[in-house]
This record gives sequence, structure tokens and C-alpha cells, in this order.
Amino acid sequence: MTTYTPSKSSKPSISIFPNHKFSKIDRNIYSGFTEHMGRCIYGGIYDPSNPNKHLTTPEGFRKDVLEALRPLSIPVFRYPGGNFCATYHWQDGIGPLSQRPSRPELAWGAVETNHFGTDEFMSWCDAVKAEPYLCLNFGTGTLDEALAWVEYCNGTKDTYWANLRRANGHAAPYNVKYWALGNEMWGDWQLNQMTASAYADRAWQWAKALKLLDPSIVLILCGKEGPTSWDYQVLKHCLRPAGLSDLGETQTPLIDMHSIHLYTASEDHYENVTGPLAAGRSIEVCSSLIDLAFVENGLPPTQNRPKICFDEWNVWSPPRAPGSKGAEEEYTLSDALAVAVWLNVLVRNAKDLGMACIAQSVNVISPLMTTETGIVKQTTWFPYELFCRYMKGHTVAVHLECDEYTGPTKPKWVRATKETPWMDVSATVDDDEGYVTVCVVNMHLEMDLSTKINGTAGANIHVFSITGANDKVTNMAGKEEVGIKESEWDSSANAEFVFPRCSITMLRWNQK
Ligand code: AHR
Repeated sequence: MTTYTPSKSSKPSISIFPNHKFSKIDRNIYSGFTEHMGRCIYGGIYDPSNPNKHLTTPEGFRKDVLEALRPLSIPVFRYPGGNFCATYHWQDGIGPLSQRPSRPELAWGAVETNHFGTDEFMSWCDAVKAEPYLCLNFGTGTLDEALAWVEYCNGTKDTYWANLRRANGHAAPYNVKYWALGNEMWGDWQLNQMTASAYADRAWQWAKALKLLDPSIVLILCGKEGPTSWDYQVLKHCLRPAGLSDLGETQTPLIDMHSIHLYTASEDHYENVTGPLAAGRSIEVCSSLIDLAFVENGLPPTQNRPKICFDEWNVWSPPRAPGSKGAEEEYTLSDALAVAVWLNVLVRNAKDLGMACIAQSVNVISPLMTTETGIVKQTTWFPYELFCRYMKGHTVAVHLECDEYTGPTKPKWVRATKETPWMDVSATVDDDEGYVTVCVVNMHLEMDLSTKINGTAGANIHVFSITGANDKVTNMAGKEEVGIKESEWDSSANAEFVFPRCSITMLRWNQK
């Protein structure tokens, strides 16, 4: 929770109230996404034909990618798409490689060899120490196939698909918890695009069957951007009691989370860095739609009220980095600030979020790029790394006073519903170790902001700074223009802290 007062005359100030805790942050908001798209899987996480053999594990996984991702403790990876799901038949991707069929891939215009499939993904998740999240094919797929996939992954009985998993060398079930009921089924690019009512009906029927097979799974409904009539209609239809006595509590909805997606981007720095504030509005409105469905459907307020699964978010301009060409964005410092604002938004709205997945994790719209010989950490990697490492526990109250940006925004309505101060702030307190962590983005391109910081109790503060020569610098030209610099700041002298123009600063201290 960050409150804000415009202050044109006085100096900026940030007041932090570490003892005023708001919401528990679900670590799953730092999740990732690996789609069969461009070089995300092949040449990204899986690269068995790379001539530099030292770069790959015996399974063909990129070691440098694993080593970069592991320290971030990314909790969950979504797979295999995205739009890719709409023609994916998971049975093509199991068993001996030589018997796996190559298929035309219609979402991105590629050929899918199926050399990387369910068992490889499970093994990669194991290697990166994350949980899998699988998205079901609502395009050309059938309910039978979906049931078979759940049985293959989670089955413990003496049944066909569970036995096939065993025969493929995986005796223990994978216990895949998270399953999505399709992806972006509202989009006109989608194979088997549906109306909201057709989708909702199908999702409800599939959900019943899937939960009968495995009541332990978490089912994720396909929403749109949050504040849309699609979101309202599918929530209204699907958030109702299961009506299946075998599932136990009949008042519990079948749906456990509601997925929304949003990408922001602009060539204009200020539009670029204020755009992610739209996501805050998406979450707020969508959360109200969940409440409305509960009220209209007569569901009692329960612990099982679905949260939002923001399972695709990032800075992406499709005209600049088209999906059909692999969507390889070259991120600037401005984009790093935008990603930090995105992450501030997710933290501030933690109350409503059960999961969020940066889209995507390697090469495609990603902070991490591979070449044949190594990896490049793009500018956006650094805010993502800092948040994954430090912004955990509970959100805490912050009050910000500073001047505000008053120019155009993209989307335009950001201004109508959100304030756009020059600084964007979120703060957390780590429940175990007592660390307070504050992330401050100074969006201003020219002005360093000398700011009074209240609430540090005179602590010695560890400072992480991310900035660069100008907002356009990138890390892709063979030199690292943007990275993390660390320093200490003694707040006991009551001095002001200077947030450099166009920067991300993380302040961290222990209050125990
Ligand atoms: O992340 C890239 C694509 O963007 C995904 O496949 C799709 O779901 C979205 O439109």
C-alpha cells in the first residue's frame, strides 16, 4: 500500500511504516514462463546440439541459463505456452526421441520437433528447483487429452497413462499442481477463438472432470486483461459451487485462480515507465469482478476466493519484436525502469495476486538471452533479480510526497485512474529476518531527487542502484552498460538520500 500526495513546493519525502504490514506476498508472483516460441526452449533452456559441449548438461539443458536462474529461486515456470498451446498435443512429446513426430506449429509459424516435452520440462524444473505450471490445449485439444495429461503427470494408480509415465522411466508422479484452462481464448489470433459464453461453458465442464480425476490440482481460468466484459462473464459463469459431492465442500468453486495478461511499451520514456501502472488498475478491477461473481452467485466469502494469476506481464512491443520472428526484445535502461515499476505494482497489489509470470524467461521477450557461447543479462534482468531476492514477506505502508509527471500516458487512461508521481515506490518487510526493503524508481530523465526518508530508525542502509548514461543504453552491444552497484548509506545523520535521474534504487536494512 503506497499513498501519495503531490508536493510541488516542498522537497520530496518517502515515509516508510515497517510495522504497518498489509498483505502477505505470495512468492509465486516472481514466477517465469517458458513457451515453445522462438528460441525460448530450443537454443534457450535446451540446447543439445550446441557445439560447445561444456555449456550443456547431459540432458541437453543450458548450464549457464540454469546457473543464472537458480539463485533467483523462481518458484514456478508456466509451460508450454502461450499461443503455442492451441495446437499442442502433449503425447507427441513423450517417449523415445526418434519416434516423436515433427508437426507444423501454427501459432508462430515454426516446425515443432517435440524433442522437448513433458518429461524434459519436469526434469528441467527439477534442475532449476521450480514447480511446473501446465497450460491445457483449448484450441485443437480434447478433454480426453487433458485428462490423460493430468493422469500422466499425477497418476498413482495402475492406469494406462500413469503406467506409460512409469514405462518412460518416471516411477514417481510429478504432482503438477497448477493447470490453466486454455490461453487467451478471446484473441482473434487464437485457433478456435471462442465467445466468452462458449469458453466459460467449456471451462466449467472441463474443470468438473479434471477435479474429479485429481481434486488436488489448482485450476486457472482464462481471463483477459482484468477490467473487461470477458473477465466478468467467465467469472460469473465459472465461480459457482462445484455441485459434486465427491469433491467434498460443495460450496467451493472449481476455479482456483483467474489469469490475466498485459504487456506495456512505448518508444517515449515517460509513456514507457508509467504504462505498467495500468496493471494496478487491471488487478483492482478484476479483483472486484471476482467479488461481484461471489456476491451474484451467492457464494459465501471463503478462504477459497480465487486470486489473480497475472501469468503474462512484461514490456513488449510486438511491432518492434514480432512474435513470428522470435520476439527478441533489446531492452534499454528505460525498459529496466518500466520492469521495476511493473514489479512495484505487483508488490503493491500482493493482496490480490496468487501468481504472476514474467513473459518470458529466456530469449523471447526476456531479461536473459543466450548466444552459442554464453548468456547476456539484459537491463531488465537487474530489477527482476533484486525483487526475486529481496522483496518478500509482507507489503508495508509507504507515504510518498513528490511532484508528478503530467504528460501523455500509454494507455491513455492511466492518468484517469492512477497518479503518476516522478517516483514509484513499494516496500516490504521480510517476516523471517526482519529486513525492510524499499524499491524507488526515479523516472525523471533530468532531475536527481534529493529526498527525505522517514522510518529508517537511523539504520545503516545497504543500497543497490541501477542506472546508466542515458535511458536508451542496452546491454546487448557486447558491453554491460547497466548493472547493479552496491553501497552503504548511514541514515542516522538525517541527511536526504539522492535518487539519481533515470534510476532504480533498492534500500535495505534490518529493523530487528
Ligand atoms: O508471450 C508471448 C505471447 O503473448 C503468448 O504466447 C500469448 O499468450 C500472448 O499473446
